[in-house]
Amino acid sequence: MAESMKGLKRSHRCTEVSSADIGKEVTVMGWVQKRRNLGSLIFIDLRDRSGILQIVFDENDVKAEGFAKAETLRSEYVVAVLGKVVKREGAVNENLATGEIEVRATGLRILSESETPPFPIEENISTKEELRLKYRCLDLRRPDIQANMIMRSRVTALTREFLTREGFLEIETPMLTKSTPEGARDYLVPSRIHPGRFYALPQSPQLFKQMLMCAGYDRYLQIVKCFRDEDLRADRQPEFTQIDMELSFVDEDDVIDINERLLAFLFKEVLDVEVKLPIQRMTWQEAMERFGSDKPDLRFGMELKNITELVKGCGFGVFTGAIENGGSVRGINVKGQGGMPRKKIDALVDFAKGYGAKGLAYIAIQQDGSCKSSFAKFMTEQEITDIVKVMEGEAGDLLLFAADRNKIVWNVLGALRTTLAGQLDLFDENEYRFVWITEFPQFEWSDEEERFVAMHHPFTMPVEEDLDKLESDPGAVRAKAYDIVLNGNEIGGGSVRIHQADVQERMFRALGLTEEQANEKFGFLLDAFKYGVPPHAGLAYGLDRLIMVMAKKDNIRDVIAFPKVKDASCLLTNAPDVVDDVQLKELCVKIDI
Ligand code: AMO
Ligand code: AMP
Repeated sequence: MAESMKGLKRSHRCTEVSSADIGKEVTVMGWVQKRRNLGSLIFIDLRDRSGILQIVFDENDVKAEGFAKAETLRSEYVVAVLGKVVKREGAVNENLATGEIEVRATGLRILSESETPPFPIEENISTKEELRLKYRCLDLRRPDIQANMIMRSRVTALTREFLTREGFLEIETPMLTKSTPEGARDYLVPSRIHPGRFYALPQSPQLFKQMLMCAGYDRYLQIVKCFRDEDLRADRQPEFTQIDMELSFVDEDDVIDINERLLAFLFKEVLDVEVKLPIQRMTWQEAMERFGSDKPDLRFGMELKNITELVKGCGFGVFTGAIENGGSVRGINVKGQGGMPRKKIDALVDFAKGYGAKGLAYIAIQQDGSCKSSFAKFMTEQEITDIVKVMEGEAGDLLLFAADRNKIVWNVLGALRTTLAGQLDLFDENEYRFVWITEFPQFEWSDEEERFVAMHHPFTMPVEEDLDKLESDPGAVRAKAYDIVLNGNEIGGGSVRIHQADVQERMFRALGLTEEQANEKFGFLLDAFKYGVPPHAGLAYGLDRLIMVMAKKDNIRDVIAFPKVKDASCLLTNAPDVVDDVQLKELCVKIDI
């Protein structure tokens, strides 16, 4: 039977008890991790969020009734134990923070019983994620997940501390709002009072934080939920949290400086890792050319090489065809993998096709220096030798090539590079390698919409020297946008904003928006801009992603208390779910599927 807390007061969390407390009476509470009976002694491992403490019930210390009660304890019972801290009689347990001591119980209350849990509450269990998420409450008890949540809480607390010290004000922005400009699909909420109308949940507070700058708040901070209806991946959730900020009277370098100091502070405090400042910066163009990615992992090499010039006159139609269509031919050198079995190479070709490649050409350099290649028969020996030279190929290396439009070539080789590095163990898991990616293209051509779309958002300021290309050559305009990348993950991004009405107008025009359309979408911001707008810039981190990398997890769900799965559903609550007809009627919503 569950007993009450009457007259009880917890004195310590489990691992707050230490050798310094030997001889003291304590009251501890938590979950039974394990019980072992040894004749006249019963041991239990008591667990709370701080860790584990060993309790001993000795027939001679506790009353018979208490001892009998201890014998009934099972995993996950919640108990309160009164007892005395003593030096551990058995062997010291080096694995436990409390390994040198134990508590000899004098009293026990069973606060609640537990059914047998569907999986053990232990670190790194191999239980299927589906089951873990269905019983998330039990899963959240596991020490490794708890460590992630604790880290997350520390990071948000320290971020607030640091940014408050830097003069930031924490201000909330609405959740029920209008479509915001981050470019994903919106989550919509039907209005009851205005039938046929919808609120959109914010994809970010972008427009509001810019209005706060117009309103003179100078430095804004918010740790805030954002909602995006997009295809989910290991690093994406439909609702996620941003550390969002905006600053007035600043330029790109000021935002970068403050954020470098914030990151250094967080990494020192939370992980005891020194971040060397200033953090390296790399232009988008360089990142793509060298790593095939705008979020390059710099912990290893395997850089891309461009062999377009070298092969443009060769006899291999796949290469020359791609070049004639305005594309390029590039490759990577996978060191020491020249002996890779054919089957594995074929798997790489399939992988590349998954990223849009039509194929993947290779040269496998044998130990004797001879080459096996999928396209040697179309080339002269000299051409192969020249390619190997440019690729810095040595005996035993595997050279992989893609020929296509730049975007596809980068995408394919960038993905191969990171996957192969993972498979071949090419980097140090303990390294944290930051890089700022700068000078993003302002626009990206959308084949779907047959127009330029903003790569960041329509309020991003172009690099000043490129302003005159807005009309003549939009594809060449660079933006004052920056992403902060950590170990191949985009953990944050931001930009300097346009604060001049004329530039903003030209920007909308370049995006193919008429004045009416711009006003319809963003009129309230444009209005605010009419009455004195300070130059401003900002940035937002994906908090979940930041914690995921800090905690060395490769799944964002492990750092979110109640995450959604791939199809955007919640296995715990079964959301999204059907609703009552009455509710739908009130909202004037009809289902048509
Ligand atoms: P952006 O769209 O780049 O910029 O978002 C900022 C950061 O948020 C994280 N992020 C996500 N994390 C998890 N799941 C998602 N679906 C998801 N989408 C984005 C990323 C990203 O770097 N308003 C601008 C910021 C600004 O300009 O100040 C914005 O939202 O880590
Ligand atoms: P094929 O002549 O189409 O059989 O191609 C010969 C070799 O070139 C094969 O190894 C293909 O995988 C490879 N290949 C085909 N298309 C491409 C491409 N776009 N880029 C690189 N290699 C390719």
